[in-house]
Amino acid sequence: MITKFPKNFLWGAASSAFQIEGGWDEDGKGMTVADFNSFKRSDRQADSKVASDFYHHWKEDIGLMKELGLKTYRFSISWARIIPDGDGAINQKGIDFYSRVIDELIANDIVPFVTLYHFDLPYALVEKYNGWEDRRCAYAFERYAKVCFEAFGDRVKWWLVHNEQNLMIRVDERMNITESDPWKADKMRAQMDYHMFLAHALAVNACHEMVEGGKIAPAVSSTCTYPLTNRPEDVWAAKMNDWFKTNYCLDMHYYGEYPGYYMRYLKERNIVPVMEEGDRALLKSAKMDFIALNYYRTLCASYLPADEEHPVGMRAYRGNEVDFDQYGYCRDEKNTNLAASEYGAQIDPMGLRIVLNDYYARYHLPLIITENGLGTPDVLTEDGKVHDDYRIDYIRGHVEAMALSIEDGVELMGYCPWSVIDLLSSHQGFRKRYGFVYVNREDMDLKDLGRVRKDSFYWYQNVIRTNGEI
Ligand code: BG6
Repeated sequence: MITKFPKNFLWGAASSAFQIEGGWDEDGKGMTVADFNSFKRSDRQADSKVASDFYHHWKEDIGLMKELGLKTYRFSISWARIIPDGDGAINQKGIDFYSRVIDELIANDIVPFVTLYHFDLPYALVEKYNGWEDRRCAYAFERYAKVCFEAFGDRVKWWLVHNEQNLMIRVDERMNITESDPWKADKMRAQMDYHMFLAHALAVNACHEMVEGGKIAPAVSSTCTYPLTNRPEDVWAAKMNDWFKTNYCLDMHYYGEYPGYYMRYLKERNIVPVMEEGDRALLKSAKMDFIALNYYRTLCASYLPADEEHPVGMRAYRGNEVDFDQYGYCRDEKNTNLAASEYGAQIDPMGLRIVLNDYYARYHLPLIITENGLGTPDVLTEDGKVHDDYRIDYIRGHVEAMALSIEDGVELMGYCPWSVIDLLSSHQGFRKRYGFVYVNREDMDLKDLGRVRKDSFYWYQNVIRTNGEI
């Protein structure tokens, strides 16, 4: 590798509150949707009650980050730690906790990169408003964001609003959608999505007003979809998959309005969200400063027209081949050119270069990768080591792809692999690990929660030390 990464390149690592913190009800924290969902699986896998116990290990863990050489740490604040019921009293103890973490990071020369909302809506807002379905949820979010800007804005300059709105909105559990009628569920989903866009715009504007030198952006779930063949219909299906799942969201943030194909979908499905006067001006006024993207894999698709067996609005993915939830265009296919992780993610460093170049060409905004990594059931050997050469291979490939994109002219600010230490996988507990540091616990056995540096820790330390000259 010959490319030099920019001098101030933000080599980092990432996490999220409910996946790393534990202390789920300590010091006044309220329950979140993420807690609620993880408790449903408590009888068979780890939940968010203890997770990696960062709530009690934060000093030790930041020490490890320092040793790793991190320039930045991307983490999220739990809304329910700051405002336990979402829109009521402020919990000073929650503010104090994050203040300590932020101070410790800065004392160790690690730039805090903070996400406001990573899948963990305060559960009280579901009970009060059915969450994002109600416009008041957007105002509650604005207030929470302002509390964070006020409390931490003197020290935190980099902010992310929602983590993966574009993916979250498609996972019913995360949105607490229990409606079984597909049309009603789609209608609810469209309204929730719209309120999240409003919340995003409110937070972006508040950040710019309140945080001196503050920069703020969405963190989108990114991928690119390849057509199975060069049949125009397959190409169309692949493009549609990206447009409906990611691009509409970035376009909405950038232009402040739905792209035409998306509005057409909303109209034809008769689920156009309720919009109020003034919304359009608000959405258009909020200018994101950069784009954060989470990238793990690419997809492959073939065209499948809607018919009686596969009607528009059918939602079947993950395990089923048909992906029909938006418009009836797409069937998920296996890409035989790519290896896949044990959990089926198609590993594709070149796809990252495609995505980076594509996003930069479309928006000309600086980019940062806020998640990228390989989930595996790592093994702690008897001599206390974790030989995760597969993770090193994965990250090396993606670092090389980033270097090529930078050579292509992409303004890439940083890289935060998922995850800094092992944490609760959003669906597979501790059987699926991503960290540079092994956390000694199993799903149903907390053991000693000790921290063990994996082989990838030393490898990534060297990447950072040499500024990517691997
Ligand atoms: C991202 C999420 O979509 O994927 C993370 O932002 C999540 O929260 C990560 O952990 C990996 O997914 P999983 O299901 O393997 O934990």
